Amino acid sequence: APLVISDKDEMRKWSRSVRSQGKTIALVPTMGYLHQGHLSLVSEAHEHADVVALSIYVNPGQFSPTEDLSTYPSDFDGDIRKLMDVPGGVDVVFHPHNLYDYGVSSKNCETEEEGNGAVSCIEQRGLGHETWVRVEKLEKGLCGKSRPIFFRGVATIVTKLFNIMEPDVAFFGKKDYQQWRIIQRMVRDLDFSIKVIGSDIIRDKDGLAMSSRNVHLSPEEREKALSINRSLSSAKSAAENGEVHCEKLKSLVTQAIREADGRVDYAEIVDQESLEAVECIKGPVVFCVAAWFGKVRLIDNIEINL
Ligand code: PAJ
Repeated sequence: APLVISDKDEMRKWSRSVRSQGKTIALVPTMGYLHQGHLSLVSEAHEHADVVALSIYVNPGQFSPTEDLSTYPSDFDGDIRKLMDVPGGVDVVFHPHNLYDYGVSSKNCETEEEGNGAVSCIEQRGLGHETWVRVEKLEKGLCGKSRPIFFRGVATIVTKLFNIMEPDVAFFGKKDYQQWRIIQRMVRDLDFSIKVIGSDIIRDKDGLAMSSRNVHLSPEEREKALSINRSLSSAKSAAENGEVHCEKLKSLVTQAIREADGRVDYAEIVDQESLEAVECIKGPVVFCVAAWFGKVRLIDNIEINL
């Protein structure tokens, strides 16, 4: 079984001792309830570093008080078992209890704002944490529209994990395309000496992008949710066959999802680097979708390189 560390100072000590032996460290940050998408990041990590560290932490800083923090699935023992089945396993699992509790009492002064989407579960708890990392432009579009504090929470927790774990290289899935681009930009802008690698989306046999949240889908909802990846694939083929007008391609996808009783949060075709919407496909773009099926919000995307 891998070494499990929950104390952040102990974690940093472990990383520094590994690095002092001249070894490189790969980090795979996760929120647990691991599936093949996470495990493939671990396998890829082995190709890029001497040791592989994985973190499991459901970060309250990226959930607003109205979101699914309390129902986010977890199965720590199952996660450890899955990690032991990956060739090479992982060398260490960082499983902190609370990365925002600094052991000082401070009063909660922001609860009035609770529920309006502008604060996270951290302000709500009033722990005194007040420093946030924002990637100002990239965080605004796509998922940032309906989840205004989400990427602030992601960039901040990833910064904290980078500072505690001091990896040489870190792995992110392109399933969360905007997240990956934001972390890449943050690392460049703030001079972290860490290489960020984006990995391809892992899908179930039927094409649904793997996600820890998929467990909350009923069998019917799951079947209907296939409309996302199916319509994205059709849109890509249409683009490759000459349909370069984004309005056309977007309506293809939104209609297919609506016909399957999905509620579209957004369907956007954006530049792969800037994530700015394009009207007509000329260069490398990514078609990003978020949609609700029942109580579950799913995201998916497909890169189109004409
Ligand atoms: P989580 O949703 O657990 O995902 C952890 C990592 O696995 C992310 O980089 C995500 O993009 C990747 N991943 C998830 N499903 C995938 C799939 N089907 N194919 C490929 N990669 C996949 O994303 C987070 O956690 C958090 O926001 C985190 C970065 C850990 C910060 O809290």
